[in-house]
Amino acid sequence: MEEIEVCVCKRITLSELLQALEEENIDDIQTLIEKTGAGTVCKMCISPEEDPYGERDIHLSELVK
Ligand code: FES
Repeated sequence: MEEIEVCVCKRITLSELLQALEEENIDDIQTLIEKTGAGTVCKMCISPEEDPYGERDIHLSELVK
């Protein structure tokens, strides 16, 4: 489960993102993008709205409360 690549463009996994969220105390999506580089290429991994064809299983928006 945790080795799911959330950001396929930058090859960033769910576990890497969860670790960044925890260690850096990130609570907003913009900071998560800046700190990890996830969501900076095609942007489909950012949110379901950016991914109209449902090509990503998980989006950054679902990881940030
Ligand atoms: S999948 Fe994250 S920017 Fe393309």
